[in-house]
Amino acid sequence: MIRPLILLTSLLLGVTNAAIQCKDNNGNNVDWFVFYKLPHLWDHPTNFPISNGTGFMYFDVNNKNWKLMPQGMDVQNNAIYYTLQQYYTSNKTKTFQYLYNDEWPDSTTWSNSSGHAKGVTVFDQYTGFWMLHSIPKFPSINQFNFPSNAHWYGQMGICVSLNYASLSDVANQLFYYNTFTYVFNLPQTFAADFPVLSQLQNGLYNKNPPLTSIRVIKSLGGQNFKHFAKTGEWGKDLYNDLVGPELKSSIKVETWNHQSGDELNLPSMCDPNHQQSTMSAKYIRLPFGVNYTSYEDHSKFVVAYSENPSKPSFPYVCIGDINRQTHQLHRGGGTMCIYDQDTYQQYANVIAEVVPCSRATVEKVALIFLIIAIFNYFV
Ligand SMILES: *[C@@H]1O[C@H](CO)[C@@H](O)[C@H](O)[C@H]1NC(C)=O
Ligand SMILES: *[C@@H]1O[C@H](CO)[C@@H](O)[C@H](O)[C@H]1NC(C)=O
Ligand SMILES: *[C@@H]1O[C@H](CO)[C@@H](O)[C@H](O)[C@H]1NC(C)=O
Ligand SMILES: *[C@@H]1O[C@H](CO)[C@@H](O)[C@H](O)[C@H]1NC(C)=O
Repeated sequence: MIRPLILLTSLLLGVTNAAIQCKDNNGNNVDWFVFYKLPHLWDHPTNFPISNGTGFMYFDVNNKNWKLMPQGMDVQNNAIYYTLQQYYTSNKTKTFQYLYNDEWPDSTTWSNSSGHAKGVTVFDQYTGFWMLHSIPKFPSINQFNFPSNAHWYGQMGICVSLNYASLSDVANQLFYYNTFTYVFNLPQTFAADFPVLSQLQNGLYNKNPPLTSIRVIKSLGGQNFKHFAKTGEWGKDLYNDLVGPELKSSIKVETWNHQSGDELNLPSMCDPNHQQSTMSAKYIRLPFGVNYTSYEDHSKFVVAYSENPSKPSFPYVCIGDINRQTHQLHRGGGTMCIYDQDTYQQYANVIAEVVPCSRATVEKVALIFLIIAIFNYFV
């Protein structure tokens, strides 16, 4: 399906600086990076970007230690800016561009039914990147701008550099999301190589079982990521019903514990067997003496942990789209997981406190296990 010549060229060009891929804080190619924009914190008056709500931490594959950036995300000298510049400056006749956000930039248009997801993926005919993030109304269509609405709360993102063939994985995963798309630029060669892109362009998405998809996506540099996607039709919790069972681990999940109206937070779920609990974050504590509640954090991430002291934690960290809230059971979205000890170390203690399971929840879960056990006994 993919022309062999293009693939070969892709391998050769993948290492030059001109290729479209994630860029670091110096504008150089980087295989992947993560960022964590801190909430607007009044109690840090001496740190201007943090008190202004633009301060952020960053690390990438070349230096896996959280670095508190001296300037805010609104200053045009960081990895997010340099990565997005490739979208702003690329030649549309040769570049695939796909930007989605359930709250469109520079606009009051938003969706409460499409995928609860935000991201940017851009490819030329050799390489590209996929950046998943949580920032409403970002990025703008015509030029880089860090919107004022993005100052208040915590936000997170991950960028992964990919080869041309991996656009197939990206497109197939996004086909589950039902994204709220505001830029979709599809040159003919891309449409011919990846037919699912035309379906995405027409606003179609997967409505047939299975209503979830898990794919390993290999970065340009060879790091495996495991991406999870679900449709709204699936109607279940991405974390407790898909990520935890697939990772075979208990997980702590930070996702906007900020219920309002009839959008209720999902409860923490304690597995009585201590294998696969799903605990919502309550309190975040970062290096650099920064801490805040989940209520102030709009980022969405997962940290695996072990409830058995004699069994080490699986070093999984996931970053993505969906909140643990009632309406979001019925919306598309996903999360991108990395299995990497160094990355895990950077995240292991970030969720410092979790919401305890209510007694009722514990009993309900125990009852379900009891019923399953009885059922298994008789069959
Ligand atoms: C701090 O952020 C606000 C937006 O929340 C912005 O309007 C303001 O200009 C910033 N302050 C300074 C001194 O740049
Ligand atoms: C974009 O690429 C096309 C096809 O190669 C070329 O004809 C056109 O001049 C380019 N446009 C710009 C602005 O570089
Ligand atoms: C979206 O909003 C409409 C109008 O407020 C409401 O009727 C509907 O239930 C909402 N849908 C979801 C999935 O929240
Ligand atoms: C949170 O950080 C502040 C400093 O900003 C510190 O005084 C306080 O003790 C911290 N609280 C917790 C629970 O870590």
